[in-house]
Amino acid sequence: MVREGLTAAPKRLPPWLFYDAEGSRLFEAITALPEYYLTRTERAILADHGRSMMAQAAGGARLRIAELGAGSAEKTRLLLRAAMERQGAVKYEPIDVSASALDAARRRIERDLPGVHVTPLVMDYAHGNGRGLEFAAAADGERMLVLYIGSSIGNFEPKEAARLMRRLRAGLKPGDSLLLGVDLVKDGALLLAAYDDAAGVTEAFNKNLLARLNRELGSDFDVEAFAHRAVWNEAEGRIEMHLESRWAQRVRVTALDFETEFAEGETIHTENSYKFRPGQAEAMLADAGFRPTGAWSDARGWFCVCLGQVE
Ligand code: AVJ
Repeated sequence: MVREGLTAAPKRLPPWLFYDAEGSRLFEAITALPEYYLTRTERAILADHGRSMMAQAAGGARLRIAELGAGSAEKTRLLLRAAMERQGAVKYEPIDVSASALDAARRRIERDLPGVHVTPLVMDYAHGNGRGLEFAAAADGERMLVLYIGSSIGNFEPKEAARLMRRLRAGLKPGDSLLLGVDLVKDGALLLAAYDDAAGVTEAFNKNLLARLNRELGSDFDVEAFAHRAVWNEAEGRIEMHLESRWAQRVRVTALDFETEFAEGETIHTENSYKFRPGQAEAMLADAGFRPTGAWSDARGWFCVCLGQVE
């Protein structure tokens, strides 16, 4: 993966590599930045409409909740609380690639929300290896609600996102549903600021990728020889992050036994973060076989949380 990406033209590295312990810490810091509107906007939508979402998903049944890419599960508490108000206790299955994030989330939820029974599952759900997307069978009278919030779907190419939605759909039964949080297309300057903040936290997050390769693969990246670049690609509807080589240089990756050369100004493409146009998330749900049954947004129309139900 790393060798392939760093010897390709143009060079690239996959965004899931951001999230070692330091990268996860930096991402948490990003979510509190004034420019990074995503987390607080989605949190407000969940706080305002969480009960309606839970009521819509439940119909008359009890809900059982799973979450993809749960991470710290900080916003999820709002939904778990709303579900508990309806049904007293909730089974919650957070799924993430990071065992340490899941462990921390479980401890905090069990402490703060007695009545939520947490069964964490470590799985690389995005790549389809190992277990497929099969959720624990819901008991009679239970409906499954899968959360995929936080705009995580935005990291996937549209085709890959569609494929993931279909795999999700295949693991669900009639009455079950998927709650999807997506960031919406907006003014380019606002989008860019969110990915190129004044305090430089996003820059540190992007560059940590190189520092991580140095730590884990014995590479000799001079992290300061690369510049953070965020680009709003309007035609593709996505923010891109790149690392741009400030001058010509050669880098050796010892553990993988290869070297690669950078020209001055050459970039490594590290992330795409797709932004959706109004109605696009609902269309994606429908394409995957869900009936869109609800969409909740903030007053400025910056972020959208959509519900799709299996018929
Ligand atoms: C975690 C994928 C939702 O795309 O906004 C934040 C990651 N990258 N700042 C996003 C990220 C740069 C984030 N997601």
